[in-house]
Amino acid sequence: MSFSGKKILILVTGGIAAYKINTLVRDFVKENAEVQVLMTPDAQKFVSALTLSTLSKKPVFTEFYGDNGTWNSHVEMALWADLILVAPCTANTLAKMVNGLCDNLVMATYLSAKCPVFIAPAMDLDMYQHPSTNINLEKAKQFGHHIIPAEHGELASGLIGQGRMSEPHTILEVIGKYFNSKHSQLSGKKILITAGPTYEAIDPVRFIGNHSSGKMGFSLAKEAAERGALVTLVSGPTTLSIEHPNIKLIRVTSAKEMLTEVMEVFDSVDVAIASAAVADYTPKVVAQEKIKKNEDSFTIELVKNPDILKTMGQQKKHQILVGFALETQNEMANAKGKLEKKNLDMIVLNSLRDEGAGFQKDTNKINLITKDEIVTFDLKPKTEVAKDILDAVEARMENK
Ligand SMILES: Cc1cc2nc3c(=O)[nH]c(=O)nc-3n(C[C@H](O)[C@H](O)[C@H](O)COP(=O)(O)O)c2cc1C
Repeated sequence: MSFSGKKILILVTGGIAAYKINTLVRDFVKENAEVQVLMTPDAQKFVSALTLSTLSKKPVFTEFYGDNGTWNSHVEMALWADLILVAPCTANTLAKMVNGLCDNLVMATYLSAKCPVFIAPAMDLDMYQHPSTNINLEKAKQFGHHIIPAEHGELASGLIGQGRMSEPHTILEVIGKYFNSKHSQLSGKKILITAGPTYEAIDPVRFIGNHSSGKMGFSLAKEAAERGALVTLVSGPTTLSIEHPNIKLIRVTSAKEMLTEVMEVFDSVDVAIASAAVADYTPKVVAQEKIKKNEDSFTIELVKNPDILKTMGQQKKHQILVGFALETQNEMANAKGKLEKKNLDMIVLNSLRDEGAGFQKDTNKINLITKDEIVTFDLKPKTEVAKDILDAVEARMENK
């Protein structure tokens, strides 16, 4: 990972995790970043300006005022930066940031900046869980700031829980990915991804479903978000969870609910990827009460569900539309037929005949089919498959 040519302004505040900032600054500098450190007056109690200045190879500023009537220009430093990182970010500084307080050099610089802001909060257990901290983190997200969540573990107080500042290598990785995403075609673009199964109710306790885990769709959402896309992830029932400032997760149960959520955003997105395994049929009648075991056999009449992918295909204007096909026979012919019938730009074919591919697995083996070509990939983790799919989407965006 190289930060060559990147100017990073690190604002250090008065938390115990400030001791990790020495390592972080050293690592950024090692990767060729230009680093300017500013500290709050309290931060100096936790880490020395001399150490940070030596590691960053620049003077570290802590006060507005220098010697002999000089002052340290917060405006110049704010406009110099490609990125601001507040680390560790105390509850105190976080509260000031979201309320526009300006009583030290760190705050004045933060308020004067136009560049992206990353916040690595660090607090003791109860401070991190406090409703005011939660509200302030939410507000910071609404400002468009990127939160690097605190990690779980032993805290300086001896308590165990969430509150530890992310490790320097994690912070470096998050910021590295952010800079890389700026080169992506997907950066700033809106993308809709469907994931998981749908459950079609038979009665209040039973349903018809399938074995989809949602892993493929969630991997796609994470990768797209890391490339800078704004992701709406509509997922059927799954045990998976995901947290990323660029991902809005909408959980649904049935195909009809999924259709409603999908069509709510479809017009406004640039790309839609339908990886959900939507039930083709649903019970015609849902029993209001639990069906009793009175008969030796009973029949459920099924009716066709709405075809979500086809509906998107019919309403497609500027969007790149990608579908998934999971086949057990005549794979290629069926997938190509679906590409055409549903007006797709690309279809991802996975076959249950391939070992390691399909539902529940952490790996997948795919063919990417467009009108003009078929590209076959090796068996890979779904996180890597997500990259292959999005690389293909980006190539298409570039040629559009
Ligand atoms: C030993 C010690 C450790 C502290 N650790 C934290 C911390 O991890 N997170 C936090 O939000 N505040 C912590 N505080 C409280 C802050 O130092 C205090 O709120 C201070 O006013 C922060 O000022 P600043 O945000 O301007 O740097 C700690 C205080 C002490 C004395």
